[in-house]
Amino acid sequence: MRVVLVGGGGRESALARAIARYGHALYFTHENPTFGVLGEVVVGEPLAVARRVGAELVVVGPEAPLADGLIDRLTLAGIPGFGPSAAAARLESSKIFTKALATKYGLPTAAARVVRRGDGFVPEQAWVVKLDGLAAGKGVWVCDSAADTAAALAEAFVLRPDGSVLLEERLLGPELSVLGIADGERVVPLPAARDHKRRFDGDQGPNTGGMGAIAPVGVAPGILASCHDVLHRAVAGMASDGVPFRGVLYGGFMLTPDGPKLLEFNARFGDPECQPLMALLDEDPVPWFLGAALGRLPGDTIRFRPEHACCVVVSGAAYPERSAHAPITRLPESGRSVVVDHAGTALRDGTLWAVGGRVLGITGLGDTAELARERAYAAVAEVRFEGAAWRTDIGC
Ligand code: GLY
Repeated sequence: MRVVLVGGGGRESALARAIARYGHALYFTHENPTFGVLGEVVVGEPLAVARRVGAELVVVGPEAPLADGLIDRLTLAGIPGFGPSAAAARLESSKIFTKALATKYGLPTAAARVVRRGDGFVPEQAWVVKLDGLAAGKGVWVCDSAADTAAALAEAFVLRPDGSVLLEERLLGPELSVLGIADGERVVPLPAARDHKRRFDGDQGPNTGGMGAIAPVGVAPGILASCHDVLHRAVAGMASDGVPFRGVLYGGFMLTPDGPKLLEFNARFGDPECQPLMALLDEDPVPWFLGAALGRLPGDTIRFRPEHACCVVVSGAAYPERSAHAPITRLPESGRSVVVDHAGTALRDGTLWAVGGRVLGITGLGDTAELARERAYAAVAEVRFEGAAWRTDIGC
């Protein structure tokens, strides 16, 4: 099948490998050094590229083109696109929309309120402050006091002068990412994964796009069932509201003493959660992506290898403030038990450069979580570029 893949980061590198393994003809709208050997890079506007190559399916990695209506435009052009319509992508692009859906359909989530500029609202407790709208991972302030909350609100209204801001009760507990593939009516869950969002070991430092992820995560069956139930009820709720959700529904959960609570939905694969999930996937993803796009998933379960995967992100030293900029002089090889996904690299005159915030995602696989982790870190230790940095506690 002729498949166009939109996006050029670590997530898309992992998706490209998973699709290419089954012999599909792949075309890419963005550059990534992984892509050249897997298909043809035809950089350009995705709908134009899809038309030019006669695409039978377009797989959209990042959230921005989804929120911007790429799937709607593909649908009008008669080209199946894997991902939600702009209206359904509001599950990610509007925190206020999602909170309203959670309230309407009784999904367990943190108590919240909406604040508008000029409301005269003065916080009397610590809240989590969330911008409404996509913010490239920079729209959440986890506050420790009423004063912090007031400062965060002031900052939020500078970023969104006319906007509304969601205040949420702060929840405590480990986080869990539970993703599923939805066709508008049904959702088939993938193994649970866990991201590590803070920059430094011990969950210290600023929030990032994600410094590493593991899958599967061992949690009690009842907890997992509650998370799956949230995905099922969200998809059913969206369908009954006339906005069917097709694509990847990513539930970010906090595992509180009162059970899992929904922190957020995303409308696409997580990055880096996608890297361990695609490394473990044991069948062709294209029938699932196409089935979701056409409104009929091909089955009830997706096959994954009964192994563990641990992805460690190698970033520049100044990430998330600044991107790396250095030649990469050594890289581990991708193979059966280690996968190297490029996220922020570029080939210049035959030399590979680190040019992004997150530069590489290196995934180790093994029969146990420990072995997967050991293999990932052994490969990470081989990477050489000036300022290469990583967390040492992914999966601990
Ligand atoms: N790993 C978090 C995200 O993709 O949003």
